[in-house]
Amino acid sequence: MAIKRICKYGEKILEKKTRKVNFDELKKTLPLLLADMFDTMDAVGGIGLAANQIGLDLRLAVIKIKREDEEPLSIVIINPEIAEKSGALYEEEGCLSFPGLFAKIRRAAKVKVRAINEKGLPIEINAEGLFAKALQHELDHLDGVLFLSRLPLLSRLKLKPALIKFKSRWKKMDESKMKPK
Ligand code: CO
Repeated sequence: MAIKRICKYGEKILEKKTRKVNFDELKKTLPLLLADMFDTMDAVGGIGLAANQIGLDLRLAVIKIKREDEEPLSIVIINPEIAEKSGALYEEEGCLSFPGLFAKIRRAAKVKVRAINEKGLPIEINAEGLFAKALQHELDHLDGVLFLSRLPLLSRLKLKPALIKFKSRWKKMDESKMKPK
C-alpha cells in the first residue's frame, strides 16, 4: 500500500472526463489500487477521492464518511451515474485538489446513484446530506468538473486572487516533498 500524490488544481487530468472502467481488465490490480486510494484519502483526512485525482484516467472513486457510534461508511463506486436527484443544499465544500480552499456550493439534497462496486456487482445508492454531497462532488471529478466551476461567475472571479496564492503554496508543498531528506 502507498500514499499517492494528489493532483492539484491546474493539472489537466482533473478537467478531463474519465474513461469508463472495464471491470474484467482492472480486476487484478483493483484491490491494490483501492487500498492506495483509501490510504491516500485517509492520510489527508478526506471524505472522497476520484481516480483522476491521483493521475489515473479511470471512472472510479472512493468515499469514506464518519458516522456516530458506527464504523465509517466506506464505499467504492465504479462507472457511477446519477439516476435521480432532488432538493437543494447550499453548504461549504472543500477538495483535496484545492487544499485549504473552501466555498459554498449548491448541490441536490438527495441523490440516487447507480454504479458497480469493488466486486463488480451493480449497486444502487440512495444518499442524502453529506453523503449525497460527496457523491455529487466525486461524480463531478469523474466528469472533469471541479467544484469551483459550480460557483456563479462573480464568485469565481472574486476567488481568483486567492487561487493564485494557493497555487504557489501548493507548488512549494510539492517541491518540499520532492527534496531528498
Ligand atoms: Co474534490
